[in-house]
Amino acid sequence: MTGVLVTGGTGRTGSALVELLRGSGVLVRVASRHPSATDPDAVRFDWADPATHPAALRGVDRVFLVPPVESVDPLPLVDPFLAEARRLGVRRVVLLGSAIVLPNAPSALEMAARVRAQPGWVVLRASGFMQNFLRPHPVGERIRRDGEIRTAAGAGRVGWIDARDIAAAAAALLADPGAAPGDQRDYLLTGPKALSYQDAAATITAHTGRPVRVVPIGVDEQAAHYRAAGASAEFAAAIAAVEDGIRAGREDRVSTAVLDLTGRPPRTFAEFVQEHATEWAEDDLPERGSAR
Ligand SMILES: NC(=O)c1ccc[n+]([C@@H]2O[C@H](COP(=O)([O-])OP(=O)(O)OC[C@H]3O[C@@H](n4cnc5c(N)ncnc54)[C@H](OP(=O)(O)O)[C@@H]3O)[C@@H](O)[C@H]2O)c1
Repeated sequence: MTGVLVTGGTGRTGSALVELLRGSGVLVRVASRHPSATDPDAVRFDWADPATHPAALRGVDRVFLVPPVESVDPLPLVDPFLAEARRLGVRRVVLLGSAIVLPNAPSALEMAARVRAQPGWVVLRASGFMQNFLRPHPVGERIRRDGEIRTAAGAGRVGWIDARDIAAAAAALLADPGAAPGDQRDYLLTGPKALSYQDAAATITAHTGRPVRVVPIGVDEQAAHYRAAGASAEFAAAIAAVEDGIRAGREDRVSTAVLDLTGRPPRTFAEFVQEHATEWAEDDLPERGSAR
């Protein structure tokens, strides 16, 4: 099969990418720990089970790579996969990386460097996802449940991006196997405007009528929230510490990469909120539904 292996193919970004590629007539193999029985091109793939990797790669010439989620040390699992992809002559790997560098996670940077080192392979450094404001992300869960965002990020801004725009950028890089790789190996992907949590809360309130307030907390309390939501202690500490960097202004940046790659500007946060308005509506909550 000449086509694209989409790891994380059932996730927010991967599933949007699968739809875009299939819509363009590209053959897609959807990788999942629980492959769909009704999709002949679905394949079982588990980062924790290296025996599943060669079969997933066999016959494809392009790969969308979603590394192990919630890991501060992805390289030991991803490196043998990349070596196998090189051995099989995979022409293009597009790595879903992160603009935000997790503290104490050097192997994520090393992983991106190894992808960039291969001609034709590309790293997407994605900014914070707008989808974090939706369930099942802990931020989205709390907005829905309590009408609040708890953050240690202060008034720091992030160039929030809709995961569907990441998928569109990836599709532009993966759709055509014959496309010249070009010189650019690394794209910072952001939405059109950097927004603080206060800006985001005000936008949700404006478009849904649901009051959303921002509650300042410390990094340690944030880490405890992520642990309570099921993250490992190590990952919870790292993801909470990221808010220090946001507060210091390190994520306050936007790029034109989505427009450059797709020919279309990325979605605004207001558009995202309008599309998902019912997600936050108070009267959708079963326990409060009759109170209004
Ligand atoms: N959220 C953000 O703000 C943000 C910002 C920048 C970068 N990122 C990166 O984006 C990635 C997540 O992307 P997403 O939000 O599109 O995904 P998602 O919706 O969280 O879905 C996770 C995907 O990973 C797959 N997966 C989970 N465990 C796996 C395993 N052990 N082996 C193989 N596949 C596994 C799942 O597939 P199955 O369950 O079907 O196996 C699913 O398709 C992460 O690597 C994260 O670092 C996130």
